[in-house]
Amino acid sequence: MGKPLYITTPLYYVNAKPHLGHAYTTLLGDTLKSFALQQGRECFFLAGTDEHGEKIAQSAEKAGKSPMEFVDEVAALFEGTWKLLGLNPDISYRTTRPSHIKLVQEALQRLKDQGDIRFSSYTGKYCLGCERFRTDQEWDEKGLCPDHQRPPEIREESNYFFNMEKYRQKTLEYYRGHSDAIVPHHYMKEALAMLEEPLEDLCISRPTSRITWGIPLPFDRNYVTYVWFDALLSYLGGLGYTGRPLAEEKSFRHDLWGQSQHLIGKDILKTHAVYWPTMLLALGLEPARQLQVNGFWLTAGLKMSKSLGNVVDPVKVYEIFGAEAFRYFLMRDMSYGVDASFTWESFVSRANSELANGIGNLASRTLTLVHKNLEARVPSAAHRNDEDRALLAKVDGLPSKFAEEFANARYHVALASFAETVATCDRYINDTKPWSLAKDPAQKDRLAAVLGTMLDALSLLSVVMQSVLPEGSRKLRSALGFTNDPEVLAWELTGLRPKEGTPLGEVPRLYPRLELPKDPDATV
Ligand code: MSP
Repeated sequence: MGKPLYITTPLYYVNAKPHLGHAYTTLLGDTLKSFALQQGRECFFLAGTDEHGEKIAQSAEKAGKSPMEFVDEVAALFEGTWKLLGLNPDISYRTTRPSHIKLVQEALQRLKDQGDIRFSSYTGKYCLGCERFRTDQEWDEKGLCPDHQRPPEIREESNYFFNMEKYRQKTLEYYRGHSDAIVPHHYMKEALAMLEEPLEDLCISRPTSRITWGIPLPFDRNYVTYVWFDALLSYLGGLGYTGRPLAEEKSFRHDLWGQSQHLIGKDILKTHAVYWPTMLLALGLEPARQLQVNGFWLTAGLKMSKSLGNVVDPVKVYEIFGAEAFRYFLMRDMSYGVDASFTWESFVSRANSELANGIGNLASRTLTLVHKNLEARVPSAAHRNDEDRALLAKVDGLPSKFAEEFANARYHVALASFAETVATCDRYINDTKPWSLAKDPAQKDRLAAVLGTMLDALSLLSVVMQSVLPEGSRKLRSALGFTNDPEVLAWELTGLRPKEGTPLGEVPRLYPRLELPKDPDATV
């Protein structure tokens, strides 16, 4: 058994239905969980929704609903979407749960009692899109929030403040001692730069005169908790933390916390890399083990976002093209950590070149030849030559390469090496020409050697692809005659060769070619 793993998505705001950017992190979490299980690790995967705050109260009002009614509906929409897309978090955490409210209040009271929270007044530039005060440097040249393209609101209020500065050095030390605590590395550099300057106190309350949709402060009922302070604590709540002193936390999965990986977008780096570790250290806990930071999905060069009105609906993409192409495209086309563009053309082209013409075609041409010429059984390996062994040596290098790239959050590179291995197999078939060998009875042994080599290669590929292409993997396994597979294909199975004489299943049609929808944007 490897180390356990705790994976989290951000807690999505429930002010609108999920878009492709949200689906991406949930898909990544789902994929990472499957991959971890393949590596023999226990894994707990949390997704959830961030349901308090001004932005959500405003959306509820616009919809003519009470906040609770509204968040119930939208949270269900998020959960339903993940289910539909075949994404399976172990928990869909909601910040409106009574246990969460209690946890936040317990934690706040402790921080207040230990002198980390003070009352004061503050004037600052607030972005409602981000639900946070931005410093003077954090506005673009037009004076707008770069993420939401909205002007600052100047806010002056008496509020409660959390002393982040007290924990700044410790946070820096943590990062310096854990160079992979934030990946890709350029985000670590950004975080260190933010932490090299003294930190202003964090405003953690909102007066109920302005907003009531939030968790009441336990020590002053005229205030509710700032949404970020509330939502970040969900990551602990999901592991059974209740906010009490650690010695009293009986069901908190401390072991999983030590192996926590937060998947986040680059716009929420500051809250996760600066606010969150200071909160954790104040509570006597270690910062999260790792932040993995993705770039934005763009449409027409702009961040896909509800407020810009350019979102792609993941459900539509799924309905048109199916779950497997959806998973493959998102994992393959985003170079992890930088922005990526969604276009229908690039989607169709990627799926056709690497699924339909790639693994799909490789499997069907190999299996069809075995069915036609070798009585649909795994042939003997007795007559293999150096060419066959050379191919398998290349293919055998894939699992460790793929696993290494996954471990380094280079998912797109892992998939590129999968696609390259498929292409190498294709070249091998083109060179060995089994269809010609099949016409010459004198070449029967050579034909068996070539096709047997290919069945070995496909068997390895079927294991490697499981976390990203679970359905294709399953179909391919049964076509290869594996009838007793466990649900999770342990990584060691990459070394298992199909046994001579095993009858094969039907030839699958793994990935049919996709057509570009006539007017795709009209369907989205
Ligand atoms: N509620 C906060 C997170 C609290 S976590 C304790 C929040 N919610 S959000 O719904 O606005 O964003 C959730 C995630 O979606 C963020 O990681 C954000 O980066 C991601 N995305 C939103 N739009 C995106 C794209 N266009 N592309 C990729 N991801 C983007 O922030």
